[in-house]
Amino acid sequence: MRSAEMSGVVSCRVPGKINLDLSVGPVREDGYHELSTVFHAVSVYDRVTVQLADRWSVHVSGPYADRVPTDDTNLALVAARTLARRRPRGLRLSPVRIDIDKQIPVAGGMAGGSADAAGALVACRELWGLDHVENDLLEEIAAGLGSDVPFLLHGGTAIGSGRGEQVTPVLARGELHWVLWAGEGLGLSTPAVYAECDRLRAEQGRRVDPPQPSGELMTALRRMDPEAVAEHLHNDLQEAAVSLRPILAEVLEVGLDLGARAGIVSGSGPTVAFLVGTQAQAIDLSVGLAANGPKGDILRAVGPAAGAALVQWRASAPPPGPQLPGPVPG
Ligand code: C5P
Repeated sequence: MRSAEMSGVVSCRVPGKINLDLSVGPVREDGYHELSTVFHAVSVYDRVTVQLADRWSVHVSGPYADRVPTDDTNLALVAARTLARRRPRGLRLSPVRIDIDKQIPVAGGMAGGSADAAGALVACRELWGLDHVENDLLEEIAAGLGSDVPFLLHGGTAIGSGRGEQVTPVLARGELHWVLWAGEGLGLSTPAVYAECDRLRAEQGRRVDPPQPSGELMTALRRMDPEAVAEHLHNDLQEAAVSLRPILAEVLEVGLDLGARAGIVSGSGPTVAFLVGTQAQAIDLSVGLAANGPKGDILRAVGPAAGAALVQWRASAPPPGPQLPGPVPG
């Protein structure tokens, strides 16, 4: 039996995220930390395009392409193969070729790899015609791929609990304007940052309480009051990220001196997110940071952004460019 596979090309647009609040609790028996976080999707997007192929492969373009693996470890490829395994008994599915236009900084605390996994799930479900895969099942598969993947299916602003994979939308009106600083070659490994957080806590003999969502931040988001949001941004991993990449302290200082309402390390870093009041202030701050801050990519973004969304179906694919790397065996 074959599925209702499409012969063309399906594209999905998927945002990066920052964390407005990240409260890290004790380490659990499975090695993860219990979290309470407020995810906020921002308008920096990867595009994940899939089409049927003879073999599984992944190809990456865009400014961060050289930092993304194209072997079997690529999370979008892992996601597509995991979804294929959930097909009904007896159904045959073709392998896919995945193309990623990578605009979200890599290893930056913006969940770019998780975004590509979410995009691959949504695009492949459509391409393979897997109508039996309801959103609940897609979320369950997403949670198995990584703690941030379920949120990127939803987007918007949401509370993440458990290890981050349990997502509850937050009522938030209006927009927030952000300037993001992503240092070149500074990428941080998420496990290393959590380990550094544990090390600093042990060294300082700090008691680790169960993680708590911030009521003040929830109120500020409901009113979408940027001043109050700025006041209640918080990240328990920031000290660890700054300890591993001391230049982040300078980035934060320069951004605040240039008039940002607040600055915060995004997730496990090292991307730094500055909150400003208006688009004009975002332009001023990005120009100022480029001139006066440590070297890095500077991106302007608005949040909340929508989660993984299908944006294009094409009946046929253009021939692959000769510059693209070869397929991954599999
Ligand atoms: O779930 P994900 O693959 O994104 O997590 C990457 C790593 O980050 C984990 O292996 C773990 O070391 C750390 N982590 C954690 N607690 C969490 C989420 C991630 O310790 N809640």
